Amino acid sequence: MKILVIGTGAREHALARALALDPATTAVVVAPGNPGTARLDKTENTPVDAEDPAAVAALAQRVRADLVVVGPEAPLVAGVADAVRATGIPVFGPDAAAARLEGSKAFAKEIMAAAAVPTAAARVCTTLAEVEAALAEFGAPHVVKDDGLAAGKGVVVTEDRDAALAHAASCLEHAAVVVEEYLDGPEVSLFCLADGSTVVPLAPAQDFKRLLDGDEGPNTGGMGAYSPLTWAPDGLTEEVVEQVALPAVRELARCGTPFVGLLYCGLALTSRGLRVVEFNARFGDPETQVVLARLQSSLATALHAAATGALAELPALQWSTDAAVTVVVASHGYPVSARKGDVISGVEEAEQLPGVHVLHAGTATDEAGALVTAGGRVLSVTGVGADIEAARAAAYAGVAAITIDGAQHRTDIAAGR
Ligand code: AMP
Ligand code: GLY
Repeated sequence: MKILVIGTGAREHALARALALDPATTAVVVAPGNPGTARLDKTENTPVDAEDPAAVAALAQRVRADLVVVGPEAPLVAGVADAVRATGIPVFGPDAAAARLEGSKAFAKEIMAAAAVPTAAARVCTTLAEVEAALAEFGAPHVVKDDGLAAGKGVVVTEDRDAALAHAASCLEHAAVVVEEYLDGPEVSLFCLADGSTVVPLAPAQDFKRLLDGDEGPNTGGMGAYSPLTWAPDGLTEEVVEQVALPAVRELARCGTPFVGLLYCGLALTSRGLRVVEFNARFGDPETQVVLARLQSSLATALHAAATGALAELPALQWSTDAAVTVVVASHGYPVSARKGDVISGVEEAEQLPGVHVLHAGTATDEAGALVTAGGRVLSVTGVGADIEAARAAAYAGVAAITIDGAQHRTDIAAGR
């Protein structure tokens, strides 16, 4: 099978790496890819405007892809999967209509209400007066969300009513605002493959969304992750499939917008039970880096089955008992800005360490051939070991081998888990 992967991040590097290691794959093309994907076996990078549906569809035909896997949300919301599907090539990723599950938080709330999926009570507001009323209704801590796509940075959770109002005011300049009740309790990310009707869960993972140790500082796209969750209640995965993923997939099918791709269930395990924090329409980053590090079954076969409506016949997925921990190394200034052009050294040394692999995200090769920073999240340093402690030690040994001026990382990813 020849597979075209769309995207540039560490998630796409993790996908391409797993596909390239998979005997079911003959070749992988990553578009546009990054300096890390360029170095994988069986893999080549090729340029494309990933948010141009016609360009991606033409590329899929030109490279004779047997399967297209769309990594990020923006191409999905732009209709890239629709355009590829129209060529007859199987595509892992929902049409634009179903990707609204991520693209519009208000739409996600409508689907959850119709499917009786447990989630935070919420109000969709279009004026500051409505926001004020909703803040008063739910009380502190306040949760204010941009209705549209914001790369994980559109949400403010704060005790400070003025800060909540200020965020709402800035969102209202371009979109509606969702104000919701605060959910306490640990968060879990559960990815489900979906083929429009059948759902196959992957292994649960946990993401660290805040920039700083101790879950302080602003929200980011994610600063680290680990899997498995040895502390998670028995039956959690089955509960999420039955109460969340299947009802949502059935409701989307009922609405005529079947969901084919990755249904990312972001969950809070609250004192009152399971609640959905958010849905995404694609693999999570950095959770994918740890989930795929533990997958033993053929990723290509599983994604192809989802893309062709054949998940009911897919043999049960097999998982390594090993643990995986990813630590994200981010550039100076992230998440507010991202300094570019800082030299990255030590990646090869890190990869020599036992159990360590390094996935690229915001990296580039400069004119002199040196690896330099080119984005906010730069590298996902992933450690695999017999348990979380061993995986964590490997990941941090990898981070210690890497030098980037001004770079940031959390020191407490998966600590004590
Ligand atoms: P979202 O983009 O909706 O996933 O939100 C990003 C992050 O904000 C989540 O992973 C949570 O850490 C936090 N968050 C979102 N909604 C809530 C909520 N209702 N209660 C508490 N924290 C939340
Ligand atoms: N790690 C959070 C996300 O991918 O949305």
